[in-house]
Formats: sequence, C-alpha cells, structure tokens
Amino acid sequence: MVSNNDDFHNNDLKPAEVNSTPYGEFNFDVPKNIFPKHGMPARASAAIVNSECWTDANSMLNLSSFVTTFVEPEARELAAGHFHKNFADPDMYPHARGTGFQCVKWLHSLWNGPKDATPYGAATIGSSEACMLAGLAHKWNWREARENAGKDAARLNMVTGGIVQIVWKKFMRYFDVEARIVPLSVGNYRLTAEHLDKYVDENTICVVAIAGQTFTGEDDDFQEIHDWLDAYEKCTGVSIPMHIDGASGGVINPFLYPEYEWDFRLPRVQSINASGHKHGLVPPCLGWIVFRDRSIFNEKLVFYVNYLGGEAPTATLDFSKGSKTIILQHYQMLRLGREGFERIMRHMLANAATLRDHLVESGYFKIINATQRIPVVALTLDKDKATNFNGFDVSAKVREKGWILSTYSMPPDVQSFNSVRIVIRPHINQNTVDNLVSNIVSACDFLGKHGGKSRLRNCTTSTRRRRRNAEAASSARHRAEAAIRELQLHAKAIHHGTEFLGFGV
Ligand SMILES: Cc1ncc(COP(=O)(O)O)c(C=O)c1O
Repeated sequence: MVSNNDDFHNNDLKPAEVNSTPYGEFNFDVPKNIFPKHGMPARASAAIVNSECWTDANSMLNLSSFVTTFVEPEARELAAGHFHKNFADPDMYPHARGTGFQCVKWLHSLWNGPKDATPYGAATIGSSEACMLAGLAHKWNWREARENAGKDAARLNMVTGGIVQIVWKKFMRYFDVEARIVPLSVGNYRLTAEHLDKYVDENTICVVAIAGQTFTGEDDDFQEIHDWLDAYEKCTGVSIPMHIDGASGGVINPFLYPEYEWDFRLPRVQSINASGHKHGLVPPCLGWIVFRDRSIFNEKLVFYVNYLGGEAPTATLDFSKGSKTIILQHYQMLRLGREGFERIMRHMLANAATLRDHLVESGYFKIINATQRIPVVALTLDKDKATNFNGFDVSAKVREKGWILSTYSMPPDVQSFNSVRIVIRPHINQNTVDNLVSNIVSACDFLGKHGGKSRLRNCTTSTRRRRRNAEAASSARHRAEAAIRELQLHAKAIHHGTEFLGFGV
C-alpha cells in the first residue's frame, strides 16, 4: 500500500500483525515520496513489487513489439546461473566475454563476411547502441580520410530513408551529423536509389539502409543503392560505405532468403546491426554490431582500461552490463542452429500471412507493405469501410481483450493514414491467430456501429482545428441523435451488468 504521508515510517506493523493473515506480506505500507526508512521481509518486498506490476500488459499478447518474451526453462536456468557476471570484466569472466566474441564471429559468417577478414563487433544493449557505434565508426573514418587528404572535415551528413527508426535521428542529433532523410511517398516506403543524387555528396559519412523497416517490415533496395554508390564513386572518386540496419531483418534474411544479397556480399556494406532480443530470440536487452573487418572500427574509438584487473579494450557506449543475454544468445545459436532458426522463421511468416489474408478478407483493412519479408503485418483501415473510426480506436478496442497492437502515425510526407502494425512472434500459433482475427473484426464491427473516439488523434493541428470547426457546425439534429444513441448504449451496458467502456459517438 502506498502512503501519501511522508512522515509515515513504513513497516511499523508488528510481525504478529503481518503474519496474522495470509495477506500480510501485501499490506506493508510504502512511502510515496521519501526513501523507505526500514526494510521489510523478502516475501513482502517481492509481493509488493509484483502486485504493482499486475496491471502491466500480458507480454505474450504484446504484438506491437518484436521483443522476445518466451524462452525454454533451460535458458531461464542458464540466465539465472550467470546473472551476476559483469560483461565489462573479462579478467574475472573471460568465458562470458568469449561467448560474445563467438556470437560476433558466427554473425559475421552468417552475414557472409569475407573469409580473409577479421570479424569484429560487439554485444550491445540493443540495436540502438549498435547503430550508434556503427555511426561513430563511419564518422571517425570519414573525418580521418578527409583530414589525411587535407580537406575540410567540419560538415558531415548521413543519408537514410524517411521510414528510418528514431535511433538514427538520435544518432545524427546527438553526434552532430546533418540528417539527410530521403522523403517517402504514399505507396513507396523503401529507400531506393531514385533520389540519392539530391542527398549524397562528398560529406556523406555513410548511407543507412534498413532490413525490416519498423513500420512496414520491408527492406530498402540494397542492391540498387549499392550500384548507385558504385557509379557515384566512378564519377566523383568519392567512396561512400553502407550500413545495414538489420534490427529486425538481420536474423531473418539469412535463414529465409539465403540467396538474397543484402549483407557483406555487397562490398560497400561495412557494418550491420541486429537486435538479439528480436529475432535473435533472446529476451531484452541485447543487440549486435558487426563490422566487415576489424579495420572498419576506427582504433581511436577504443579505450584500453585496467580498472577491473587485467587490461581490457572498451568501445561501447556503456561499461558494466550483465552477461546473461549474451550467454542466452550463445545458447539459442547452439540450440537451434541454421535449421532451427529457419523452421521458426517459416512458421512465423506463415502465421503472419494467414493473419494478413484474413484481415484483408474482412474488408476493413488494406495491406501497406508491398512485400512480406518478415513476420510483420502492416495494415491501414480501408477508409471506404471504416468511415467513423481509425486505427487508434481498433488498438484501444482490442486492448479490452488483452491484445496490444500499436497504431502508428506514419512519417512525414505519408501522414495521410496510420499503420496498424502486428508483429507475429514464435509463440503465436494458428489458434491464437484465429482468436486475434476474430477479436479485431468484432472490434471493427463494434466501432462501425458506434463510432470511434480517436478520430482526431493523428492529425496536424490545422486539420484538427478544421475538423473541430466542421464538427461544431454540425446540425443539432445530429447531436441529439448521438446523445440518444449514447444513452441507449449506456442503458444496454448497465443492463448487462458492465460499465460502458466509452466507445460512444
Ligand atoms: C529498424 C530499426 N532500427 C533500430 C531499432 C532499435 O532497436 P532496439 O530497440 O533494439 O534498440 C529498431 C527497433 O524497433 C528498428 O526497427
């Protein structure tokens, strides 16, 4: 129980009182604003922390996230056995550290790194940290090359597509790199070579292309971008590297599309990141950055420290961190091998296709992505059928059944619609897909009858103002009808013994 009284000293309950009922452990008072004065028994502390999280979402139904939420008991045991090991301390835990290098080497081979190269990379907190490290490497390399050539190295930029995940915008802002973001157009969400001539120049530190875009799951056109950069080098003598952000697609492409050249087979690709906690099938937090060769990661970014014993290099944005996710990645790679990963990816993709087809058949949705590479279903409501509700309403309505499906506002230039994105993960089976389809369609039926509440949520301010004015001017007759409908619904909900949940007119 949280107390608003800051003078209150928690745990003033006598042990006898605490143990007098089976619920004593839940009933310790917790001060809200001041640090607890006394401790409490472990069971009480666990009960209170647990109870505070009871209303968190059910992570198995959280289909707006790619993040892994299921691992086998053996994996849990393994994690528990190594949770205390600091990955930054290779002197004490050389084998935990070695596990990380092993995974980097395997990823380098999975991503077809050249056989004569020295694999190099790092385990990170997630793809975000991995992307930042890649961006820094390219920034340092670019600057060094410019300075060595006696050229101005003050203005630098990075080129990427308009659907880019927020991490790249963060990177460019935090590390003073001009953002050159190629705008999208409705129906075409992939970065291609089409507009590169307006964005790329000698100050471009790298072009970032995405494998498994956040909004649609599609891939940018790697080959076309690569070939364009080759041609650009021929004309100008300026060689620009590519980074592939494979946060989602990096661990799918090698298993499902082994012939598809998206990786180090393209000579310009110098770095690739992936999220271990997404399709690497490890719970949060884990990402990977892998460089084509040791030489790509500029040595000036590496520090050698001996704080914890023997000398160790450090070149990540963090220092101390747990080893358990890295150990779990090693476990998953051994446990599944290529064959196992491939089977899982096929199963996820098949379920995603079933979900997509059923939802499109329902008539409420249109598919956004032209290609279906990864198990992400990106939909938008068919405006002819869904006239009085939007994606935010659908997300809110299915939330009543426990499902978490995000609706996103699309990036600038394509904001005329929202994307309802559903990520299929390995624990989702056919049965779950059937339930989900049925719940989404019922939600749409309900919203079609009663209207949604979020109609104005994803508009620009001026559109919102215009629509508000239009609504304000709507006839008294409409308002009266709406009020009567709402009253009728309310009465019906009360009649059924439930509180009306508010998806009224
Ligand atoms: C394309 C892309 N890049 C980077 C990220 C950031 O990944 P993380 O959450 O692992 O930091 C994401 C996350 O969804 C992503 O989709």
